[in-house]
Amino acid sequence: MEIVIVPDSAAGARVAARLIARVVTAKPTAVLGLATGSSPLGTYAELAEQATSGTTDFSAASGFALDEYVGIPAEHPQSYAAVIDREVTRRLGMDPARVHVPDGRATEIPAACDAYEAAIRASGGVDIQILGIGANGHIGFNEPSSSLSSRTRIKTLTPRTRADNARFFDSLDDVPTHCLTQGLGTIMDARRIVLVAQGSAKAAAVAAAVEGPVSAMCPASVLQFHPHATVVVDEAAAADLTLTDYYRHTYDNKPDWQI
Ligand code: F6R
Repeated sequence: MEIVIVPDSAAGARVAARLIARVVTAKPTAVLGLATGSSPLGTYAELAEQATSGTTDFSAASGFALDEYVGIPAEHPQSYAAVIDREVTRRLGMDPARVHVPDGRATEIPAACDAYEAAIRASGGVDIQILGIGANGHIGFNEPSSSLSSRTRIKTLTPRTRADNARFFDSLDDVPTHCLTQGLGTIMDARRIVLVAQGSAKAAAVAAAVEGPVSAMCPASVLQFHPHATVVVDEAAAADLTLTDYYRHTYDNKPDWQI
């Protein structure tokens, strides 16, 4: 894994956006794996600026969201379909027909999950997957104890995740209990991965993911098996890492990444 420690979240957003923009510039029809939540918002804002200025053209790119809540309407402002439309599709100038979100309202959930997997395969696969990380080490909504080779499926959210996401809803009771999420095996199929994390609440999860044993108890640790995963963390999120001098040295020697 490549660990990039940056001074603050704005710098992290610039590094992540640069990696993503480079993929899209090299391949305008690139397939982007899209995370929701607060972690990638700065990255999306950077990419939106590039789209607006004409530096990067996302109009031929496709997108696949990581996950979606079960049981809230697509037009609910906190459904991930609405969030992706608002924060990504419109701002980056992507074609809405090419941006996909798992169908959390499907009556046949297993069939909807299989269809989502098939659509990702049919697209040629994800070129670059953007990830955040939960305080409990989840990626997508693959909660601790998720199979490391899981595919898109329904999951029950842990009380911790529901509490963490209550800030997006009027009350904890309004946070859905279930979701559809790409599996860890699905995420691992992406050709390239960039995980962004900011703030001290993520420090333990980042350390477990990067330096801990690979374990279903920290689902993000599966990324240690990925051949091309970059983890972009600010100082607060890097606080529990032990090899920080080494990571900084590596980073300093990659002028391409200089901020
Ligand atoms: C969202 C997702 C989650 C979040 C994680 C961190 O699509 O898949 O794994 O990335 O819960 O959330 P934030 O960024 O809000 O701290």
